[in-house]
Amino acid sequence: EKGTYPHFMLKEIDEQPFVMRKIIQEYQDENDNIKLDSDIRQAMLDTDRVYIIAAGTSYHAGLVGKQFIEKIANVPVEVHIASEFSYNMPLLSEKPLFVFISQSGETADSRSVLVRIKELGHPALTITNVPGSTLSREANYTLHLHAGPEIAVASTKAYTAQIAVLAILAVDTAKAKGLDLDFDPLKELGIAASVMESLTDQKEVFEEIAKEYFTETRNAFYIGRGMDYFVVQEASLKLKEISYIQAEGFAGGELKHGTIALIESGTPVIALSTQESVNYSIRGNVQEVAARGAKTCIISIEGLEQESDTFVLPHVHELLTSLVSVVPMQLLAYYAALHRDCDVDKPRNLAKSVTVE
Ligand code: M6R
Repeated sequence: EKGTYPHFMLKEIDEQPFVMRKIIQEYQDENDNIKLDSDIRQAMLDTDRVYIIAAGTSYHAGLVGKQFIEKIANVPVEVHIASEFSYNMPLLSEKPLFVFISQSGETADSRSVLVRIKELGHPALTITNVPGSTLSREANYTLHLHAGPEIAVASTKAYTAQIAVLAILAVDTAKAKGLDLDFDPLKELGIAASVMESLTDQKEVFEEIAKEYFTETRNAFYIGRGMDYFVVQEASLKLKEISYIQAEGFAGGELKHGTIALIESGTPVIALSTQESVNYSIRGNVQEVAARGAKTCIISIEGLEQESDTFVLPHVHELLTSLVSVVPMQLLAYYAALHRDCDVDKPRNLAKSVTVE
């Protein structure tokens, strides 16, 4: 039930800190180490390449997950859109492990890939919020998101839960491989949870930004680089699916290869900068669009901020910035939809779980 909330989406955005803490609790043993099914650990050790298969928001979480598994566990990863994979199957490695990411566990596009790869005899792990779901039952292994039921069509807490579980999986694999690590995901997730809470406590700030940037506009651009590029793709999906504003998330460096032609006087451009290595270059991209009349908004993070930034996120570990930077993006989409009188929880033409291919 929604309780005192006007919409499930807002309730689910607010639940994210609790979901993080639930995940920490569920994936922690009595010695504060990671607790994970030893068969899954073995499957991660046995594989020479992980193939992540997902759709929509879960695909966006997969893009972040690839960074974790490659950077932390040193295992190569490919991320594929489920509906594309079947028709355009890449050359597979010798020992592939398929990882299906799906909130509902019922997405038909992902299921058709699962059926296909099972015929080929490859192992599959499903990361889902619904352990009894089709994708969970038909895969060899399941990791549970513990996010609680997600009712709003726009996925919010499932996305952050997916990222948290992928970080835990990556670190568990790294430890099992004996790699040296100075990253404790359970501790860092706890810090991220507190930061998420401080953000959901400042809703009026994001409501104001949404009013200023999205009340009138027909279109909007989000830009980011590296990890932030993955988050802005999710940010734009959130905005378009519930507010019907035409939005796209672009890699900052790609603007000059075409997209910048779309910038007109007043076009909203929301930039995200949470990664030190690209802080300078994304700010350059912001200047390029501002010089062509764009109405720019920069969301940055403590340590990288500049005076003119619209909002500065509190510090979290650089690997986990997506967990907190997505929260303002979710709230911006929510308030944009609200102020445009859209049906926030049940946007037109969409279903919560897409059970047709
Ligand atoms: O249940 P799944 O995670 O497999 O669903 C995948 C997509 O249909 C889903 O994430 C969709 O993109 C959401 N409406 C996004 O908010």
